[in-house]
Amino acid sequence: MYKVKLHARGQLFEYSCSSTVTPLQAARNQFIPIPTGCKQGGCGMCKIKVLEGEYSQEVIRSHEALSDAEVENGYALACCMVPKSDLHIITAEDYAKKEKVEI
Ligand code: FES
Repeated sequence: MYKVKLHARGQLFEYSCSSTVTPLQAARNQFIPIPTGCKQGGCGMCKIKVLEGEYSQEVIRSHEALSDAEVENGYALACCMVPKSDLHIITAEDYAKKEKVEI
């Protein structure tokens, strides 16, 4: 079981996530408010920036939801990944406002 630190909606949440569950599903199971849409890699609502940690991103995804450039810059889809270590992640929305947020 890995630990996930998630910045979402200006708050910091900490929760556990196994290596077989996506950070999105683990958050939802623990009533943590993570942006969620299709849960299939198609909409991009769950886009996060990975600040620390190792993960495996499912290859099958929509390029509209997550571009190759975003992958190279450490973005991932929380619905299409599994952790390989503890993770420190922030929603793309919160990351865009990070100047105002203490990470
Ligand atoms: S919820 Fe739609 S891409 Fe993750």
